[in-house]
Amino acid sequence: MDLGDGIRLRPLLAGDGEELAAAYSRNRAHLEPWEPLRSEEFFTVARQRQLVAEALRAVEDGRSAAYVLEDGEHRIVGRVNLSDIVRGAFWSAHLGYWIDHGLAGRGLMRRAVDTVCAIARDDVGLHRVQAATLLRNEASQRVLRATGFTEIGPAPRYLRIAGEWQDHVLFQRILEDAAEGGS
Ligand SMILES: CC(C)(COP(=O)(O)OP(=O)(O)OC[C@H]1O[C@@H](n2cnc3c(N)ncnc32)[C@H](O)[C@@H]1OP(=O)(O)O)[C@@H](O)C(=O)NCCC(=O)NCCS
Repeated sequence: MDLGDGIRLRPLLAGDGEELAAAYSRNRAHLEPWEPLRSEEFFTVARQRQLVAEALRAVEDGRSAAYVLEDGEHRIVGRVNLSDIVRGAFWSAHLGYWIDHGLAGRGLMRRAVDTVCAIARDDVGLHRVQAATLLRNEASQRVLRATGFTEIGPAPRYLRIAGEWQDHVLFQRILEDAAEGGS
C-alpha cells in the first residue's frame, strides 16, 4: 500500500531480519527514549532473524498482524504492529509503531496507522484497537488523535520503557466509527 513520499506499507516477510537490524541500528538513538531497553544482541542480524520468525509465528496463529514501511530502495524505515489480538467478547488488539528519524513529521505514520486500522476492522474483524503513549510523546499522541483514537485516561507505571516503569496515556479507537481520515 502506497503511503506517499515513495514509502509503502507491506506485511513483514521472512527475509526481513537483515534490513530490520540495519533499521534498528540507524534509529538506535531516535527510538531509545520510547522503547524497552535493548541488548547489544538486539541489533544483530541473527537476533532480528529470530525475532522475525517469532513475529511470523504469531501472525500465523492469529495473535498479531505485522507490517513494515519500506522505501524505494527496499530499506525498512518503520513498523506498525497489532499485537495481543483477543477475540471472544473483546475483539481488540494493541497497536505499536515507529518511523525512521529521517522520515518523521511528513504524515506518513498517520496514513500507516489509518491503513492498519482499516485492515484490523475489515480483514481481522476487530472492534477496537488500543495504544499507549508516554505522557511526553506528543508526536505519537498527535498521530492517534488524527486517526480517530480517543483518550481513555492515564495508566500509572504501565510499561517498562528505557528501563523504567513509566506512566502512560491510554487511547482507543472503536473501529466501527469512521475516522477523520475516512477509512
Ligand atoms: C511517533 C512517530 C511514529 C510519529 O511518526 P510521524 O510519521 O512523524 O507522524 P506524522 O507525521 O503522521 O504526525 C506527527 C505529528 O506530531 C507532530 N510532532 C512531531 N514531532 C513532535 C514533537 N517533538 N512534539 C510535538 N509534536 C510533534 C507533527 O507536527 C505531526 O503533527 P500534525 O499531524 O498535527 O502536523 C515518530 O515520531 C516515531 O517513530 N517516534 C519514535 C517511536 C515512537 O514514539 N513510537 C510510538 C510509541 S507510542
